[in-house]
Amino acid sequence: MGAPAIRTVAVAGGGMMGCGIAQVFASRPDLSVTIFDSYVSGAAILDRIRGNLALFVGKGVFSQAEADAIVARVTPYGDLAAAVRDADLVVECIPEDMALKQGFFRDLEPLVRPDAILCTNTSVMSITAIASKSAKRDRIVGTHFWNPPTLIPLVEVVKAEDTSDGTVDATIAVLASVGKKPIRVNKDVPGFVAIRLQHALWREAVSIVEHGIADAATVDEAVRSSFGLRLPVLGPMENIDMVGADLALSIHDYLFPYLEDAKAASPALREKVAAGDLGFKSGKGFAAWTEEEMAASRRRLTEHLIRMLHGK
Ligand SMILES: NC(=O)c1ccc[n+]([C@@H]2O[C@H](COP(=O)([O-])OP(=O)(O)OC[C@H]3O[C@@H](n4cnc5c(N)ncnc54)[C@H](O)[C@@H]3O)[C@@H](O)[C@H]2O)c1
Repeated sequence: MGAPAIRTVAVAGGGMMGCGIAQVFASRPDLSVTIFDSYVSGAAILDRIRGNLALFVGKGVFSQAEADAIVARVTPYGDLAAAVRDADLVVECIPEDMALKQGFFRDLEPLVRPDAILCTNTSVMSITAIASKSAKRDRIVGTHFWNPPTLIPLVEVVKAEDTSDGTVDATIAVLASVGKKPIRVNKDVPGFVAIRLQHALWREAVSIVEHGIADAATVDEAVRSSFGLRLPVLGPMENIDMVGADLALSIHDYLFPYLEDAKAASPALREKVAAGDLGFKSGKGFAAWTEEEMAASRRRLTEHLIRMLHGK
């Protein structure tokens, strides 16, 4: 497929991810961005983007004039056909529902140019299944942004069964041009790459707590104070090379029989959900949380990300 030069990006779904993703593309001065939502007004969407940008202005990442220019490059539409008519790239960010997404891509097809690239921001669902109701599937690709998309650099670019290499290459190029770190995921598997890695760790973490080896706060401290410090500069594969494949092999041979290998979610997690102990949503999860503690936790994370990524 001949990749078009990307000049206009349409985002479908003006929720948490859609607004952030629109902001990311609009940060490139030569891109125009449209955003479409069936339920939320254009004014509310632009307010949300302004609200996200206020944080960056407050920290000195953008000047107020730069933030205003970003918002000015985003045009909201309540009509899908108008929003996508000139789009070179469409990013679907509507709710995580297979039938809804399949229907969206089917309806989108006659409204967009034949060479437009169509992306889905699904967190976990099969890109191949999402594309299955569409006729021209070579241009449909997964672009899994992480939350908050305005800060986390990674975007997993997932090649579905029918996605062409040209679609993947052009998608990676435009994401890199707006400062993201796109990675190529060669197979459309559940959890792609980074969600699989994250939840492999979470499975072991919950298991350690469940079996009384350490409490929840201690598990978090263990990660934050050890390999968590290295992770921004040393991934697991380079780490294996650094310590030696022979050492990794001997540790794996000895340790793996003792690691959690459950094929279902932990009963401890299931009990928490049944009891309504959902974490921040209910004020109690593995720990009890006051409003102030939750706000402090969110603030700590955002400030850390801005410091790490923007040095502010
Ligand atoms: N929230 C996260 O942390 C996260 C991270 C990565 C990926 N995702 C994925 O991104 C997608 C969007 O998630 P979100 O958190 O932004 O959801 P959200 O609920 O905040 O936003 C979804 C928006 O889509 C709109 N909408 C619903 N149906 C629509 C339709 N048919 N056409 C146009 N707009 C429609 C809704 O009005 C809403 O504004 C989901 O697939 C989700 O799994 C979410």
